[in-house]
Amino acid sequence: HRDLTGIAQLERHEILYLLREAESWVEHNRRSDKHAGILSGLTIINAFFENSTRTLLSFEIAGKRLGADVVNMHAAQSSVKKGETLIDTAITLNAMRADAIVIRHASSGATQLIADKVDCPVLNAGDGRHEHPTQALLDALALRQALARRGEGTEDFTGRVVTICGDILHSRVARSNILCLQALGASVRLCSPPALMPAGIEAIGAEPFHDFDAALDGCDVVMMLRLQTERMSGQFIPSAREYHHLYGLTEVRLQRAAPDALVMHPGPMNRGVEIDSEVADLIGRSIITEQVEMGVAVRMACLDVLTRSARSVAGWEATP
Ligand code: CP
Repeated sequence: HRDLTGIAQLERHEILYLLREAESWVEHNRRSDKHAGILSGLTIINAFFENSTRTLLSFEIAGKRLGADVVNMHAAQSSVKKGETLIDTAITLNAMRADAIVIRHASSGATQLIADKVDCPVLNAGDGRHEHPTQALLDALALRQALARRGEGTEDFTGRVVTICGDILHSRVARSNILCLQALGASVRLCSPPALMPAGIEAIGAEPFHDFDAALDGCDVVMMLRLQTERMSGQFIPSAREYHHLYGLTEVRLQRAAPDALVMHPGPMNRGVEIDSEVADLIGRSIITEQVEMGVAVRMACLDVLTRSARSVAGWEATP
């Protein structure tokens, strides 16, 4: 693959390959000298048309740790504000001879649109409701690391039950995670208010719930998502109090899951709405901070793998 537009484009062995590559950066990133010069001389542009803390910073850190020159384009300070189209912006970035472009955009499909116009690899950092592939990869890596710490290390998640609860309808994180977790053997339960569950979700093999207690029953992992009010128009938005009552993860509710169930959240979190602080900070069970740490390793792996042809290194080396 030249680009990383979504988990949907990846075969299971390619996901496992990227996770193994990312795993090799985890220990490296815990050293005091974190520099590795393998992308020296390359230029990476992070073009973010939507807000971000974790994804933007971790792509920037990943590129810099690998020795690339990294430039961040924030849409709010760009000529997008003067009416420039996405395609003209892509042509402009391409003319600067970037070696990789990382895109975050509010529109589903924006990454593919840019990928079709430029000569270098394009990485999706989240496009509308479509996909957030590096998030799903980092979630899988955080989960593997947590299971390995418990002596349960395994290449995939066969037999595990993962409950994803929140605004499934608007969530690119949910979509990428469903694809990634299922490819790695997990069973996925989805839980949301009826208005926030996509129609026909059963067709992709995920089990839908509207009762959070039932969705939690005996699950191994609980992944909480925030309400994406910025993507809602004309929709009923529950109050924070109402939402917390029905779908907030509390310590009491967590007891319905398996006794050692892990807690995940891609961030940004709304504490006291979809997740209580006591759960978000639960030592030994919450791996939310580890998810952020794995984000750098996963983005280093993706930048390395996707720029191999620019560096005349043997390309995508995923083997079944
Ligand atoms: N999880 C995630 O994408 O966070 P940011 O919006 O802060 O990048």
